[in-house]
Formats: sequence, structure tokens, C-alpha cells
Amino acid sequence: MRTQVGIVGGGPAGALLSHLLHLQGIESVVLELRGREEVETAVRAGVLEHETAGLLRETGVGERMDREGAIHEGIELRFGGRGHRIDFADLTGRNIVVYGQQEVVKDLYAARLDAGGQITFEAAAVGLQDLDTSQPKIRFRRGAYLDLDAGGVRFSGDTEEEEIVCDFVAGCDGYFGPCRTSIPENVRKEHVRTYPFAWFGILVEGPPSTEELIYNLHERGFTLVSTRSPEIQRLYFQCDPNDEVDNWPDERIWEELQTRLDTDDGWTLERGKIYQKDIVQMRSFICEPLQHGRLFLAGDAAHIVPPTGAKGMNLAVNDVRVLAWGLSEFYSSGRTDLLDTYSEICLRRVWKASRFSWWMTSMLHRFHHEDDFRYGLQPAELDYVTSSRAASTSLAENYVGLPMDPVLGATGTERGQAAPTTS
Ligand code: PHB
Repeated sequence: MRTQVGIVGGGPAGALLSHLLHLQGIESVVLELRGREEVETAVRAGVLEHETAGLLRETGVGERMDREGAIHEGIELRFGGRGHRIDFADLTGRNIVVYGQQEVVKDLYAARLDAGGQITFEAAAVGLQDLDTSQPKIRFRRGAYLDLDAGGVRFSGDTEEEEIVCDFVAGCDGYFGPCRTSIPENVRKEHVRTYPFAWFGILVEGPPSTEELIYNLHERGFTLVSTRSPEIQRLYFQCDPNDEVDNWPDERIWEELQTRLDTDDGWTLERGKIYQKDIVQMRSFICEPLQHGRLFLAGDAAHIVPPTGAKGMNLAVNDVRVLAWGLSEFYSSGRTDLLDTYSEICLRRVWKASRFSWWMTSMLHRFHHEDDFRYGLQPAELDYVTSSRAASTSLAENYVGLPMDPVLGATGTERGQAAPTTS
């Protein structure tokens, strides 16, 4: 098989990259380990930064997002039994869109498959070769599935190894994918921070309790009240990373949530039918550099942020936006200036988003090994953030998303290139 860009991984990074390349007339093949339905129904985060939503709109895949997603113009920070609104619209003139990541992926698959794009599901990359030549290769096998009990990727049947010969390889294969480790250890640096807690997440069929997301600190730990739609709610509470879903019958969950979210004026949480429970581990991770020869890493393959800042998918979107423009420049002029600075451009944003996510996480969680001094600082910090316009603006501008790289603009138009169109 021969293509211009071989994309390992069909999550948001891989699917969007394939779409953006198509709009520039560049061919790609996407390999995705999971089945289509599995990806389309996996529950992930759901906050799109202002410019992420703008990019989806401008490239013709924002129609359902605009119809079914919800624009939020602020969030609530709740602590000491009181809520405080951070007004994004007033402080930044921008907003966010609450729309599930798997819905974005669904829209991208529909657009790619409609346009004759090639996404091979249930196919696992088993090795990358010749990354330092102009013809890198991806070796892969069909019939793949993930068996976590058996320790990873398995194959049904006796499938043969196949090969894709490409000009470039995009490693969009997530934290556990094989691409990152193709960057030799002597040039790869990995920055890791694990947090001493996890999030217990529930999906609830029932009405919303609030119009905007609530980030709450209580002495028993952090809570987040989020939503997916007027009928489906998403809530999380800080738990022990070794805790198990079975330890939490529904009634215990509702009591814990209500206790943490109690306010002085008697706010009550709307209950509903809990139909999914999961535990999300928390870590910060950054790989440097993001490129090696003709391999470019994007999204979770390259960096992980704790979900408190709602940055994960937004960083992935920024990576592939930069990569698509670098590749577009290469195919139109043969120049590699942008591709050569891919890592540098993306990592500036990645480190800033990691700082913000780490800061939100530190401000809003109980670190049980911490002392009283630290516990005294937390409400002081929240008090400052919610009472100073300067501090509120700092939170707001990071949350809605710092402006995308000014050299590139949202779609490259500032560089004098035509914005991608869907026609
Ligand atoms: C979610 O709705 O899943 C969500 C929202 C905001 C976050 C993290 C997760 O910061």
C-alpha cells in the first residue's frame, strides 16, 4: 500500500489530521486499533475551546456540533459552601462548546468516509521502519483487538503483516501506542507527573443540576458537575487511585456528591439513573521532541494532561492543525520550514496547557499527604481567583484556550494561504 501520510490511530488527532489533509489535496490512510462502533461510543471529555470549535466549523464538520452542542459562557468555582461565576464572555469575549469528543470523532469519520477517505479499523501497527529516509514504512496487521487482561493487542485469525509505504508517518496512537517508542531513547525525553488521586466518573440519565460546569473543592475532595446534553449528565469526584467501581453503589455516590456540593443556601443535586461508572487516572506527561525524521507525534501519543483544565482534545487539535499546515507547505512548495519547527511550535502550547491543568488540579484537589499550611492556601487562592478581575481573566483566557499560534492563525490564512474549504 502506498500513501502520502500514514496515520497511526483514528482518535480525534488522527481523524482530524486526515480530514485537514484531504482539504489540502493530500492523501492519507488511517489505521485504527478499535472497531468503528467502539471508538464512536467511548466516553471521553467534552469541552471544546473557542478556536477548536471554530476550526471544526471552518473546515465543514461543525454543523452537528452547532446544533447539538451547548455554548457555555462561564463556569462556576464552588468552595466554602458558595459558588462564584467566572464569566468567560465578559473577561475574554470567547466561550467554549460542550460537545463529546466521541461526537467530534463521529462527525470526522462521516466526513472522511463520505469523501472516500480510507480508515482501516481493527488494524494495529506493529512497527515503523526507515523513519530517517524519505520513504518511511508502517508495518501492520488486521484483525486486531485490545485484550487488557491478556496484556494488550491481540489478533483474531491468522492475519499476515502488511506494509504501508508513505512520505510521512503521523503517530496519533495514544499514550499506549507504538509510535512514541520509535523515537530512540537517546533523543527522547519524557516528563512525567502522577497525581495521588483519580476521578470517579458517572454518566447519568436525568436532568441537569446547573446551566454551567461546576468545579468544586470540599475538604473531602474535588467534584465536577458537567453535562453531555439536556438528558445526559457527566459527574466526577476525586477518589483514591486504587479504588474500585464496585465499592460505590449508587446511593453512596449520590450522598458523597451532595455532601461535597452542599452550599449555604441549600442547593440540591438532581439525581437520575446512573448507567456507567468508571475511574480515570490522573497524570501529566510530555514527550520531547515530538518529531524524529519523518515521524510526527500528535495528541495523547505525545502528551497527557490531567482533565481538570479540559485541555486534552484541544491540544490534539492544535497539534494536527500545525502538522497539516507543515505538510501542506511541503507538498505545495517543497519547503520544510514549518515541519522542522513542528515540535517547537506545538510544545510551547503543550507546556502552557500542562501548566494550566496542573495549576487547576493543585488548586481544586485534596492532596492527602499535604499539611495544614497547604490546605490554608487553597481557599485563599480560590478567593483570589474569584475576586480579582486580573486573576479571573488569567483562568478564563486559559480555559477558553490561549490564541492559537499567531504565525499560523486558525486555518493558516494569516500566512496568505487560502483557508481550506469543503467544496
Ligand atoms: C467532561 O464533561 O467530561 C469534562 C468537563 C470538564 C473537564 C473534564 C471533563 O475539565
